[in-house]
Amino acid sequence: MELQEAGQKILMEQAMGLLDGVMEYREMMMAYSCAIKEVKTKFDVLDTEFHIRYQRNPISTIHTRLKSQTSILEKMSRIGYPPTIENIEACLNDIAGVRVICSYVDDIYEIADALIRQDDIRLIRKKDYIANPKPNGYRSLHLIVTVPVFFAESKKEMKVEVQIRTIAMDFWASLEHQIKYKKDIADADQIIGKLKKCADVIAETDLEMQKIRQQLEKEENAETDVETIFEKLKKFDVPIV
Ligand code: GTP
Ligand code: MG
Repeated sequence: MELQEAGQKILMEQAMGLLDGVMEYREMMMAYSCAIKEVKTKFDVLDTEFHIRYQRNPISTIHTRLKSQTSILEKMSRIGYPPTIENIEACLNDIAGVRVICSYVDDIYEIADALIRQDDIRLIRKKDYIANPKPNGYRSLHLIVTVPVFFAESKKEMKVEVQIRTIAMDFWASLEHQIKYKKDIADADQIIGKLKKCADVIAETDLEMQKIRQQLEKEENAETDVETIFEKLKKFDVPIV
């Protein structure tokens, strides 16, 4: 009887320990999820401001993702650290991910700088794969930032990985990503070569498109006839959302 009771007690303690662990893990993920909301809102605000000020949206879409439990465990095991809450928070920068897709390259830098200038944002790391593309042709601007998240009784600085790229760069990255995870591809070298060529063409096209837009803006600003002024006024006639 005593043995049975002792067994029950151990089981109970283990279950309580597990419950604590699960609660702690869920709290951590909740904080990252809220950090994503904070950063996404900041980009939404910047997009609205640009829309009102310059009558165009620099951001095409924003995707967000919270790293899955399996990916977290897999990465912790790959880097060789036990997956405790402390280790996960210290080692991983990409539990919270925000991907911002812009139409033009200059918008990428403008919105990145506008985010970094905000006084609650702390820049931890910046990797400019646009100025320095990866050998495979990958282009994107990566930031690791922290953002404060306010809870009922506490405040936590959470890390968020931000990837900013053009629509074309994103199109390229999704295809390249598909290939990366496929095993035993026939003509892999040839595909890698073709992808690299596509990345270079995309980069050139992105810059050409930007130049055309800038030229159009310059010409529009130089026009002073009544019709053009009315056209400009019409552009201001948009709802503020
Ligand atoms: P991890 O790859 O997450 O361990 O990050 P890292 O510290 O090496 O950072 P890096 O900034 O190089 O890459 C972070 C993320 O950018 C990756 O998880 C991908 O989402 C994306 N990325 C980086 N390189 C490539 C690439 O060559 N192709 C594609 N499709 N995505 C890439
Ligand atoms: Mg990653």
